[in-house]
Amino acid sequence: MKVLVVGSGGREHALAWKLLQSDRIQEVICVPGNGGTATLKRCRNLGLNTNDFEGIGRFATVNNIGLIVVGPEAPLAEGITDYLQAQNLTVFGPTQAGAQIEASKAWAKALMKEAKVLTAAAQVFTAAAPAIAYVQKMGAPIVVKADGLAAGKGVTVAATVEEAITAIEAAFGGAFGTAGQQVVIEECLTGQEASVLAITDGKTIRPLLPAQDHKRIGEGDTGANTGGMGAYAPAPIVTSALMERIQQEVLEPTLAALQQHGIDYRGVLYAGLMITEAGDPKVIEFNCRFGDPETQVVLPLLDMPLHEVLLACAQQRLDQLPPLAWLPGAAACVVVAAQGYPDRYPKGAPIGKIQEAEAKGAIVFHAGTRIKEQQLVSDGGRVLNVCAIGDTLSDALAKAYAAIGVIQFNDMYYRRDIGHHALAQIQ
Ligand code: AMP
Ligand code: GLY
Repeated sequence: MKVLVVGSGGREHALAWKLLQSDRIQEVICVPGNGGTATLKRCRNLGLNTNDFEGIGRFATVNNIGLIVVGPEAPLAEGITDYLQAQNLTVFGPTQAGAQIEASKAWAKALMKEAKVLTAAAQVFTAAAPAIAYVQKMGAPIVVKADGLAAGKGVTVAATVEEAITAIEAAFGGAFGTAGQQVVIEECLTGQEASVLAITDGKTIRPLLPAQDHKRIGEGDTGANTGGMGAYAPAPIVTSALMERIQQEVLEPTLAALQQHGIDYRGVLYAGLMITEAGDPKVIEFNCRFGDPETQVVLPLLDMPLHEVLLACAQQRLDQLPPLAWLPGAAACVVVAAQGYPDRYPKGAPIGKIQEAEAKGAIVFHAGTRIKEQQLVSDGGRVLNVCAIGDTLSDALAKAYAAIGVIQFNDMYYRRDIGHHALAQIQ
C-alpha cells in the first residue's frame, strides 16, 4: 500500500518513519515533507501546499493511495477530509465539523459542557468592553484565549489583570485576525499537564500512551510559550487508574457528544489535560490531530504496524483491532531549535553529522530542515527532534543528549532539563 502524509514537521517525519517500518508499505509520499522525509528510504516529498486539496486529491487518485494521514490542524479545519472523502479516498483525520473541537475554543467549551467533562470555568465574549469588565470582576490569574486557530500563540495565562486586558485588546485589535474576534476567558488551572492522544473511528475510542511535553522555551519551564521543546512517554503522572478515569470521564463522553452532533470523527482526539493537585483530569483543550512533539515519543513505542491502526480508524472497524501493543521502557525527545526561537531566528544554517548522532542510538526526526544544493540546512525555528527509546526514561534521555552532542549545527538551542517532572516522580 502507498500512504500519503500531509504536513512538514517532526510529527510527519515520525509518522512516515513509523509507517515504513512495515514492509507492507510500498511508499510514503509527504506533502510537502521536509529534509528528513526527503532522505528517508521509500519516502519522497511532493511539492504541493497542504491547502491544495484538489492537487492532493488528484495525485492520490491517480497514484492509488490507500490511506491519507493528515498531520496539521489547519487543513483539517479547512475541510481537507470532507473534500478527499468525497473523492472516495480513505482519510485518517476528522472532517471540518469534527475539527471545530480545536478550531473554535468556544465550540469545544460548549461541547465539554454537554459532555459534562471536567474543564476550567469559562465565558465567551465577542467584544472587548464586556471581556475587560469580566476580568476586572474575576481578578488574576486568569486565562485569555483567542477562539480560533492562532498557531499556538492565542493563549495568555495572565498573572495580572493588566496583562489580561492587554491580551483582550490585542485579540480584538486583530492580532490573530478573525481567530481573535471571539475570546474565551477562563479560570486558571494549576497542576501538571499531560497529553492523552486517543484514536477513534467515530464509534470506539482508545488512548495511546500518555505523554508530556515542555511548552516553555526556558529551563525550569520558564519564558515564552513555544510549539514544544521536548516530550516524553509514558508520563508517569497518568497512572493506569487515572487513564481509566480519562477514558470514562473525558474520552467516551466527548465522543458521545460528537456523535450527538452527527459528527463522524475518525482520527486523533488529543486531550490536553491539567492533572490538578486533587488528582482530577481537567481538560485544558482538545486538538483534532496528533501532537507535536508527543507523536515523536509515542510512535517509537508502538509495537504494531501503524497503518493497521490508522486504517482501522479510517474504515470504522477499530473495535476489531487487537489491543494496542507497546514496547516496554520509555521514549524521550529533545527539540533542537535555532537560537532566537520563538522570536526571530536565522534560517539556512548547515547541519551535519545526523547519521553519527543516530549511531549513538537516537532517532533524529527533522522539523524545520530542507535540502539546499545537496546540503541539509535549517529552515524553521524548531529544527530537529532528537529522540531515543530506552529501558527507562533516564536511559532514553541520556541517548538523546549524547546524540545532540555529536550534531553539527551552529547556534543551536535546546533545553537540558527535558523530563525533569517525570524523573522527580520516578525517583
Ligand atoms: P493551548 O494553546 O490551548 O495549547 O494553550 C497553551 C498553554 O496555555 C497550555 O498548554 C497551558 O500551559 C496553558 N493554559 C491554557 N489554558 C489554561 C488554563 N485554563 N489554566 C492554566 N493554564 C492554561
Ligand atoms: N504539543 C502540543 C501540540 O501539539 O499542540
